[in-house]
Amino acid sequence: MSIDPLSDAKIVESWRKNAGPWVSAVRDQKIESRKLVTNQAIVETVMSRSPLTALDIGCGEGWLARELAGHGMRVMGVDVVPDLIEQAKRAGAGEFQVASYEDIAAGELDMQVDAVIANFSLIGKESVEGVLRRIPSLLTDDGTLFIQTLHPVTACGELPYTDGWRKGSWAGFDDDFSDPAPWYFRTMERWLQLLSETGFQKIETREPLHPATGRPASVIFIAQL
Ligand SMILES: C[S@@+](CC[C@H](N)C(=O)[O-])C[C@H]1O[C@@H](n2cnc3c(N)ncnc32)[C@H](O)[C@@H]1O
Repeated sequence: MSIDPLSDAKIVESWRKNAGPWVSAVRDQKIESRKLVTNQAIVETVMSRSPLTALDIGCGEGWLARELAGHGMRVMGVDVVPDLIEQAKRAGAGEFQVASYEDIAAGELDMQVDAVIANFSLIGKESVEGVLRRIPSLLTDDGTLFIQTLHPVTACGELPYTDGWRKGSWAGFDDDFSDPAPWYFRTMERWLQLLSETGFQKIETREPLHPATGRPASVIFIAQL
């Protein structure tokens, strides 16, 4: 049976295929916006709340978990792609395990942490809604959820500013990448609604700017129950 090209399942299939090139893109600092803005933005935002323990969901090859562990935090990273988790484990610092958002939503992670972090990893529709519903029970009482994602206004492009599935693209990445993952576009209003429907009452946003364009490189949601 073929996978729907605009679906959560297709996102996972695509990330499985692109694990190798992704590890080099991140570790060789090939993604300019990350190098210039968004890596530092998420690290500083998380550190500003001084969590002692953190769960990095959709952690990829684990750079953020390693960085936060280097600041003394106890961090667990999880991702659906076994090759990425293998690379994360080999690089050391932090604990890593294979888990999908569907696994987390089904209650497979039994822990409580001061921070749950998703750095450019909430890409799909049902998978994202499901994992978000579960996050409150993974947080300590005054714990915080940090989501960094594409800024809806910048990422919208020429298409209508409405929620919906979009085709993926590896424009700007090298030729080793193939079969880009689709993604589910959410307006700023929808992201905020989703967080509030999930039970988050205090929600702040940050909009780190790209120094070359002066436009938002991302949005960071900082949410507490
Ligand atoms: C753009 S990468 C970001 C990786 C990492 N957070 C970083 O900052 O480098 C998106 C990640 O989300 C993960 N992902 C996508 N869908 C997932 C799912 N349903 N369950 C767990 N991880 C998922 C992918 O495997 C991939 O590692």
